Amino acid sequence: MAKLIERYNSFFTEGIVNTLIIAAFSVLFGAILGTLMASLRMCRIPPLRWIAVAYIEFVRGTPLMVQLMFIFYGLPMIGITIPNIPWIPNFSRFAAGIVAMSMNSCAYVAEIIRSGIQAVDGGQMEAARSVGFSSGEAMRLVVLPQAIRNILPALGNEFVTVIKESSIVSVIGIADLMFRTNDVIAVTYKNLECLAVAALCYFVLTFVSGRAVSLAERKLSHGK
Ligand code: ARG
Repeated sequence: MAKLIERYNSFFTEGIVNTLIIAAFSVLFGAILGTLMASLRMCRIPPLRWIAVAYIEFVRGTPLMVQLMFIFYGLPMIGITIPNIPWIPNFSRFAAGIVAMSMNSCAYVAEIIRSGIQAVDGGQMEAARSVGFSSGEAMRLVVLPQAIRNILPALGNEFVTVIKESSIVSVIGIADLMFRTNDVIAVTYKNLECLAVAALCYFVLTFVSGRAVSLAERKLSHGK
């Protein structure tokens, strides 16, 4: 195994870098979009709420692989393509991967935020309102600080999930860790070793980011 890693180390490294690029952007956009989607999901205008519910249910009820292939192979058939940019190699593939993963993660993040907020006892809002807070103030100053404690750990889990789920982008030809592992298998026929290396790499990535997330969590919920 050591020899395999030594010989094909550039493949695995490139794969890890691409996996990290996809995961980092997807986590970032997923979190931003998910926050917006959560506010839409809880807003006072029913049609907007219905749109958010439909989106969340649909995205969570269909496989990520289908969503990804729909964006990369399906949409171009009706003229919706992501153009390539000359100075970023494979831009359209990467963009499709990031769009699909962010749109997918957005639905999960929205549910994490909504359930985190709704888990705060309704009495908290009532109490804040009864001492004169507007509903916005009550949400911002009383409910959200408590909701954060429910939201952060689940959001941390979601980040780790995105790293693992990103292995699906190999089906649209992005040279991520899974894709490069398959390349090495194709030339060495060493399935067992190659997949063990890939598993180990993914584990290190998720373990390290999991630790980083719980550290951040502890800092953010300090003293509460
Ligand atoms: N692999 C599953 C699917 O295809 C789960 C996706 C989970 N995604 C997430 N961002 N938590 O639907």
